Amino acid sequence: MDVTGKVAVVTGAGRGIGHGIAMKLAQNGAHVVVADIVEENAREIAREVESTGKTSMACFLDVTDRQSVESMGESVINQFGQIDILVNNAGVIGAAGWEKRETASEADWDITFLVNVKGIGTVTDTISPHMKERRYGKIVNIASVAARKGTATSTPYGASKAGVINFTQSTALELAPFNINVNAVCPGLLWTDMWERIAVRFRSKDDYPDELTPREVFDRFVKARTPLGREQTPEDIGNATVFLASDAAENITGQALNICGGYMMN
Ligand SMILES: NC(=O)c1ccc[n+]([C@@H]2O[C@H](COP(=O)([O-])OP(=O)(O)OC[C@H]3O[C@@H](n4cnc5c(N)ncnc54)[C@H](O)[C@@H]3O)[C@@H](O)[C@H]2O)c1
Repeated sequence: MDVTGKVAVVTGAGRGIGHGIAMKLAQNGAHVVVADIVEENAREIAREVESTGKTSMACFLDVTDRQSVESMGESVINQFGQIDILVNNAGVIGAAGWEKRETASEADWDITFLVNVKGIGTVTDTISPHMKERRYGKIVNIASVAARKGTATSTPYGASKAGVINFTQSTALELAPFNINVNAVCPGLLWTDMWERIAVRFRSKDDYPDELTPREVFDRFVKARTPLGREQTPEDIGNATVFLASDAAENITGQALNICGGYMMN
C-alpha cells in the first residue's frame, strides 16, 4: 500500500468519501491534489492533507465543464510535473430537490449522467495523455453497489454507476498498452451528505415512519442489508483506493471491488 512520492488527483475531495480517500493517499505517502466544485471545501481539505507532511494543492473543478477540467490538469502539471494517480470520485444522486420527488425529473437524469458518467470521461481523457507519455498510471473510479443490481434508491443514479463499471472496463482495455491500470471501487453505505438526501427521500415510506430522523433511517437501512451489521466509512473506501492505486495492484485492471460489508456479493 505504498504510494510514496506519487502525485494523486482526487475529484470531489472537498468532503465525504473523497476527503477520506485524499487523507489515506497522503498517509500512505502521496502528494494530493484536492479538486472540488466547492473551492472553499477543497482548500480546507488541502490544509488537512498538508498537516500529514505531504504537499497538497486545492483546485476548483467542475467535472461537467471541459475548460475547468483542462485548467485543473494544466495547474497540476505546472505545479508537480506529473500525475501518477487519478481518483474519479465526484458524483451526485440528483438535481436540487430530488429527495422530494417521487420519480426522477429530466434535471435529475441530466446532472446524474453529466457528473457521474461524462464527467469521469472528460477528466480521464484530460489526465490520461500525461500518464501515457510516462507509461505509468493508476486510475480508480468510484462506482457504487447501486451499479450491481437495481435498487429503489434512484434509477438514474444506479444506471449511471453501472455505466461507471463499463467505462472502467473499456478504459482498462484502452490504456493497458501504456501500463495504466483502471479499476473501480463500489462503496456500500456511508453516512455522507449524499446519504442524508437518500434518507430524507425514504422517510415516510413503508419501513421508515416520519418520526425517524434521517440518521435513524440510515441506521435501519444498514442493519437490514449488511451482513457485517455496520456502515462503511470514507477511510474504508480510502484503503481500497490506495491499494488499487499502489504497485501492489499492478496486475489488477478492469475490476470493480465492493467495499460494503457483504451487502452485495457479485
Ligand atoms: N455515500 C454513499 O453511501 C455512497 C455509496 C456508493 C457510492 N458513493 C459514491 O461516492 C462518491 C462520493 O460520494 P459522497 O457520499 O462522498 O457524496 P458527497 O455528496 O458527500 O460528496 C460529493 C463531492 O463531489 C463534489 N462534486 C459534486 N459535483 C461536482 C462537480 N460537477 N465537479 C466536481 N466536484 C463535484 C461535491 O462538491 C462533494 O464534495 C460519489 O461518486 C458517490 O456516488 C457514495
